[in-house]
Amino acid sequence: MSHHYNMPNGFGDREGSLFCEAVSADSLAQRFGTPLYVYSQTAITEAFAEWTKAFGVADHLICFAVKANSNIAILKLLARLGSGFDIVSGGELQRVLAAGGDAAKVVFSGVGKSGAEIELALTAGIRCFNVESASELALIEEIARRLNKVAPISVRLNPDVDAKTHHYISTGLKENKFGVNAEIAKTLYRAAHESDVLLPIGIDCHIGSQLTEIEPFSDSVKHLKNLVLDLRSRGINLQHIDIGGGLGIQYRDEEVPSAKALIDSVRDQLDELSMELMIEPGRSIVGNAGALLTRVMVIKEGEKKRFAVVDAAMNDLLRPALYSAWQTIMETAPCGAEPRVYDVVGPVCETGDFLGKDRKLGITEGDLLAVLGAGAYGFTMSSNYNSRPRAAEVLVSGTDAHVIRKRERVEDLWANECLPEPIASGS
Ligand code: LLP
Repeated sequence: MSHHYNMPNGFGDREGSLFCEAVSADSLAQRFGTPLYVYSQTAITEAFAEWTKAFGVADHLICFAVKANSNIAILKLLARLGSGFDIVSGGELQRVLAAGGDAAKVVFSGVGKSGAEIELALTAGIRCFNVESASELALIEEIARRLNKVAPISVRLNPDVDAKTHHYISTGLKENKFGVNAEIAKTLYRAAHESDVLLPIGIDCHIGSQLTEIEPFSDSVKHLKNLVLDLRSRGINLQHIDIGGGLGIQYRDEEVPSAKALIDSVRDQLDELSMELMIEPGRSIVGNAGALLTRVMVIKEGEKKRFAVVDAAMNDLLRPALYSAWQTIMETAPCGAEPRVYDVVGPVCETGDFLGKDRKLGITEGDLLAVLGAGAYGFTMSSNYNSRPRAAEVLVSGTDAHVIRKRERVEDLWANECLPEPIASGS
């Protein structure tokens, strides 16, 4: 194992072998098989505590973005730590409730909420709908009236600021589908203010993910603040400001501001408003708390490149294929093989199926590798492409390792498929 990696919290190196807390990666792979998602409970707990500390005495609510990692055990851990949740579907809401999360700490984001999802959220009594269009507001109003409930709403402002991140995960620009501009937001607030079943209680935005600078946050906060003051002058008094998620993590050599630095700068701008601050972090809580363990199946010398074919693929971890994302790949134990440069690829039949390119590794067939920074948007973006069962997930705490999701069985893959009679009988 090379020693130039910046090891994330929860992972460490003991005499050249990779450990998650007090359990070696090799023993986890042996016990549970590969590919395997491994998470450190301590790392998640500490990352959450960093956000809590960053707010200090300020009135606040941290709503973990469920899409980053939606395993029920992890949601339950976060719920116990006092976390709220940012959801984008009825499915995520049901996960939060199944995990014992408090509906009163749930905000519901997303550009397309169905009537059924809105009804579910209203019935559960969520904290707030983060509304993204006039049509959505009208639908919420109609459903609230039918259910005889009052729907708390926030309008998602699209502040037209550049988050300076990958264009697929940038959400706060005019050309993006998210949120509404300030003019439309004012119309929506007026409509909500005049409705007897809508209650405008907050304002929100989310400008993108894996942000490595504070400036785009400050820019959007400036726009949020202007709108809050404008609404106040019209008699609409909001209680909270939700600045969304998006703070990045270190995957390679990014310099990422701390949660404290971000919140300090936001508070400098917002404290005078005396509102509750909300945030929707996903990646910064779980990203570096997870790794994907995978075994080298084949070493193959191509004419131009050398490949390490591993047993995890783009269906297990999509980020490299989808965003050309770079994640550290390391040997989990010293093996003695001469370090050479490999493309680390999966068995899926696509040239885009790679976990890393041009990585220097000392490996032989059968060795175990770890892909770091896999705790966020890893398992949640996995699929069954190529009829590959999804990986198992394990949560490690000290010397204990608990399976929090069993490896899928091949039969699970076609459990919902049906054979219509004419096909079954061949007629
Ligand atoms: N709030 C809203 C409304 C969001 O859309 C997102 C993420 C978050 C919060 C959490 O953002 P975070 O703190 O995790 O950056 N699959 C991509 C990331 C997509 C992010 C989508 N929205 C990736 O793997 O990089």
